[in-house]
Amino acid sequence: MRKIGKTPFSLSIVEPEAELCGRKEELKRLINYARDGEKVVLVSPRRYGKTTLAKKALHEIRSQDKNALTAYCSISRETTVAGVAERIASTVLKAIASKRSLLERLTKGLTAFRPVMTLGPEGPNWTVERSAGATGSQLLEEVIRSLANISKAPDVSICVGIDEFQTVACIDPKGGIEAMVRDLIQDMRVSFFFIGSQRHMLTSMFSDSGRPFYRMAHRMDLPPLNESEMIPYLTQLVESAGGAISKDEATFLARLSNGIPFFLQQIGYVAFQQGSGRMDVESIKEAFRQVMEVERGDMESSISRLPLGQRAMLLALAHEPTDSPYSQAYMKRHGLTSAGAITSALENLKKADFIIQETKTYKILDPFQRIILTDGMERELLEARAGIQS
Ligand SMILES: Nc1ncnc2c1ncn2[C@@H]1O[C@H](COP(=O)(O)OP(=O)(O)OP(=O)(O)O)[C@@H](O)[C@H]1O
Ligand SMILES: [Mg+2]
Repeated sequence: MRKIGKTPFSLSIVEPEAELCGRKEELKRLINYARDGEKVVLVSPRRYGKTTLAKKALHEIRSQDKNALTAYCSISRETTVAGVAERIASTVLKAIASKRSLLERLTKGLTAFRPVMTLGPEGPNWTVERSAGATGSQLLEEVIRSLANISKAPDVSICVGIDEFQTVACIDPKGGIEAMVRDLIQDMRVSFFFIGSQRHMLTSMFSDSGRPFYRMAHRMDLPPLNESEMIPYLTQLVESAGGAISKDEATFLARLSNGIPFFLQQIGYVAFQQGSGRMDVESIKEAFRQVMEVERGDMESSISRLPLGQRAMLLALAHEPTDSPYSQAYMKRHGLTSAGAITSALENLKKADFIIQETKTYKILDPFQRIILTDGMERELLEARAGIQS
């Protein structure tokens, strides 16, 4: 009998060395774009695996090419342009700290920043210190110019991943910073991955013809995972940790995840623990219920902050996606009272990524929100079992 190991499922980012479920084509495309110095905007609804994929691509690029310079940072917590500049500068600095000649190229161009090295238990740690008086946009301009300077070194290729990139538009809604960054990077042979979890905002940054980043980057949309990708992935993952999962059970888990990697990992994690490695139908059902309970708490608090009109609209769409929200019958069925309120609710819910309009039909973006809003947990369990033999 094989020894049951630690759960192979991950509640946080999957280590970049580990195999991913699916995403082979997307990974190849990202690596090729990076090699060619192209800019990419990576878009999907939340928790589809953008950050995981971008980090995996950067890892692969580094392992395939020793001259490649890759850097990744998330700017989600930054509230000023100077903070964004500092985050990017210190990330790039860390990435090149071991390459002396490049380090010199970087530091030569810096006047508004001073690189600072401290020695920690895990070796040298690089950060930057701002010179007094430099403005946020001066700092950002300087960082980008330094990247351009490094990119002129022979044989070096650079790829920088900036996560939660829509933060730039929140910090500077007038778009001056976007325009400056565009002018600086458009002819640079440096690849950028612009990643973001606020889908609507990121899309309008790159797709609205009046915005500076319009047509600046190749757009990549991450779809949900397919059953045909998830089933072998689950089998291999569970067996690698000494556990067991049949094809039917893997299909059940895959369907319950709705193809969203985050839920595949979360439900798998709990089910593996519940069944001590034996992923049977009961442990998967119980895991699904537990994960949904956590989601319910999170979702209820975000929905409780919505104005009443948006809440009513969201509930109506959870029960009944529609291409005619203004029809008398629809309004009556869902207790919607005014056309003006519907227009404003639809607009705001779209902006906040609660809903999307696909081929004219308005619907809830996140299938788990729909399940919770309609109290559909048990129905979902039944539907996911339908047609599975054992
Ligand atoms: N291809 C994959 N195979 C297996 N697990 C994955 C894959 N992609 C993501 N995951 C898992 O799903 C979870 C969510 O992934 P990740 O954080 O990369 O998504 P995201 O799209 O960046 O989310 P957000 O929009 O919230 O930033 C991670 O914890 C990771 O464990
Ligand atoms: Mg992310």
